[in-house]
Amino acid sequence: MSDAPRHILVIGMGAGDPDHLTLAAVKAMRRADVFFVLGKGREKDALTRLRRDILDEHLTGPYRVVEAEDPWRDRTQQDGGRYASAVHDWRHRRADICERLIIEELAPGQCGAFLVWGDPSLYDSTLAILDDIRGRGTVEFGYEVIPGISSVSALAARHRVTLNRVGRPIHITPGRRLAQGFPEDCDLVVMLDGHESFTHLTGRGWWIHWGAYIGTPDEILVSGPLDEVAGRISRLRAEARERHGWIMDTYLLSRGPGDADDTDAVDTADGAGGAGRTGGAGDAGRTHR
Ligand SMILES: C[S@@+](CC[C@H](N)C(=O)[O-])C[C@H]1O[C@@H](n2cnc3c(N)ncnc32)[C@H](O)[C@@H]1O
Repeated sequence: MSDAPRHILVIGMGAGDPDHLTLAAVKAMRRADVFFVLGKGREKDALTRLRRDILDEHLTGPYRVVEAEDPWRDRTQQDGGRYASAVHDWRHRRADICERLIIEELAPGQCGAFLVWGDPSLYDSTLAILDDIRGRGTVEFGYEVIPGISSVSALAARHRVTLNRVGRPIHITPGRRLAQGFPEDCDLVVMLDGHESFTHLTGRGWWIHWGAYIGTPDEILVSGPLDEVAGRISRLRAEARERHGWIMDTYLLSRGPGDADDTDAVDTADGAGGAGRTGGAGDAGRTHR
């Protein structure tokens, strides 16, 4: 048996728009002998289709994809320690599956690739899983990371806004952590929010730039004063979730109008004009689909 090392490429593929793939990502994809895909349910179907579209578009020859079912994850645990231990347990079972894929589906000397949604550095477990597997000592491999355009970058671009105000910090958080508080001087980027946490933040002068399925043909964008658009976002979210069976949304909460692009006239939700942090794609109080 050859003792040539196996190699893994962790490739950020952008958060929905195939054109967001970087040249480095395309070059990396062309080096791969096999692509590993983990997922489940309707979300998986949609994301797997998108991955295949991307592969079809950028690879000239035939390619090999090996799919595996994502293990079940306990989503009932939402508080601190229990949440962390449920995620840890889930990651460990994912690592078991990836370990098997690497041993059985990747020959020594070959190159395997994980196409990671958005950027691998942001709320993604692939790197932790690969570290876990290497720590087990059952299979040797090297790996490298190719960055991708995250849903956060895509959100800001579609709304034509900066994430931060001049010289100020931003705080990126899963929605479920908002209830536990956040730094007061930061603008907030909220991800992984299955519970519409923004609805608990009305009455405090926030502005929201919200996007769902960003970069895909199903994209929905809304922006405006949170108090005025929160209800509309909730309705759109519920309708879209019903229609697709799943939803991915991200939003920026800012302390009022920001520094970027704030000279445009703005229509607020009730039609009144004003100046504020705005963007062409997601003019305040407007909805885009
Ligand atoms: C597990 S995280 C993965 C984030 C990914 N690594 C990235 O760089 O965007 C999934 C979360 O990313 C956000 N997300 C990913 N793709 C999105 C998209 N196309 N539109 C809106 N939000 C998206 C949502 O907040 C979703 O809950």
